Amino acid sequence: MKSSIVFIFFSTFLLIQTCQFSSASQGVASVHVKNKFIPAVYVFGDSLVESGNNNYLKTSAKVNYTPYGADFPNGVATGRFTNGHTVVDFFAKWLGLPYVPPYMSLSEEERSRTTTGINYASGAAGILPESGTATGDILSLEEQVNYFNQTVKNDLPKFFSTQEEISSYLSKSIFVFSIGSNDYINNYLQPANYNSSNTYTPQQYGALLISTLKQHLMSLYNLGVRKFVVFELGPIGCLPAIINAANPKPVTPCLESVNLMIKIFNFGIPSMIQELTSTMKGSTFVHGNIFDKSHRQNISPLTYGFSGGNTPCCVVGGNGTTVCLPNQMPCKNRNTHLYWDAFHQVQRVNYEVANGCFRGSSTCFPINIRQLVHI
Ligand SMILES: *[C@@H]1O[C@H](CO)[C@@H](O)[C@H](O)[C@H]1NC(C)=O
Ligand SMILES: *[C@@H]1O[C@H](CO)[C@@H](O)[C@H](O)[C@H]1NC(C)=O
Ligand SMILES: *[C@@H]1O[C@H](CO)[C@@H](O)[C@H](O)[C@H]1NC(C)=O
Repeated sequence: MKSSIVFIFFSTFLLIQTCQFSSASQGVASVHVKNKFIPAVYVFGDSLVESGNNNYLKTSAKVNYTPYGADFPNGVATGRFTNGHTVVDFFAKWLGLPYVPPYMSLSEEERSRTTTGINYASGAAGILPESGTATGDILSLEEQVNYFNQTVKNDLPKFFSTQEEISSYLSKSIFVFSIGSNDYINNYLQPANYNSSNTYTPQQYGALLISTLKQHLMSLYNLGVRKFVVFELGPIGCLPAIINAANPKPVTPCLESVNLMIKIFNFGIPSMIQELTSTMKGSTFVHGNIFDKSHRQNISPLTYGFSGGNTPCCVVGGNGTTVCLPNQMPCKNRNTHLYWDAFHQVQRVNYEVANGCFRGSSTCFPINIRQLVHI
């Protein structure tokens, strides 16, 4: 209750700012004006945050069919891997920005006038270039960064008139990263398709992922990025797909051996952030701490109001290990299930994560998004 009142004040404040500036300036300046604090949100990641890039790619990792999007405005299946909004959709909405469009959906002309952010995220993609490639042609983190490089070098200069304007714009924008799950799900945990588990110990693999992610964050800093929001991985060992594929089935709600493995990656994030904060002058990092609460929810869903537990809401195939099968009726009450399909959580969970990170004090560290806005 209290936070929604604060939020109303916050939006009203934004609105007032918008009006004041609109009357005073026009044209190019209006982009700074319309969203005084945060001009844009840029997104890098996987299916947890993608908004439709894979629709344009030759991959089996795409969900542009019903029942996906059942709770999205107009029930449209946009390519989002959930029933409604992603965490990033909520961020954009609360920042007064439009949905962040997928890079692949934009024509060259549209790219040159898109100044509220672009989403490069791609389902099945990982930090390592080979992760997820068994599903076909997807955008690895490296490719996502390369596309952003083109945005900075080729597209933004068509809108802004000076390099200083581009730098100022980029330094105020928020860059969200939600990637790494597929380096396990669609790589390390699939020895039939990938040899990484024969090549690296879990410790070495986690370190490789962190150092690769770090290189990309440094490249982005060199392109002018300053405000980073980096999400750790959720408890992958609790995903219905992982549990239902396990043989023998775990006696605990989650496959904790998998959780221990991905925690190695998660534990590497704070020290990476600390190092980058001290070496990259003027950078600010927000760390999205999502593992613990999600793990608790999976262990005792009823306590958190999820009476449907970890059973996917939609009809999935492969004995409970796949995305939703097309055109099947999903469960009626989406808000009582933790999971929409065998891999992805329902909109309600995305809302709770987004809300905690945007306004709360325990999901995102050391500051929340609302505080990041004012830096
Ligand atoms: C792993 O597989 C890739 C291609 O599938 C190959 O290029 C690489 O040499 C392999 N690595 C090891 C250590 O076997
Ligand atoms: C960005 O593109 C330029 C060429 O336009 C290239 O020199 C540079 O290495 C690229 N940077 C990244 C981070 O990819
Ligand atoms: C589902 O499980 C049954 C029984 O264990 C097995 O025979 C069948 O091959 C499985 N199907 C898939 C798609 O994994």
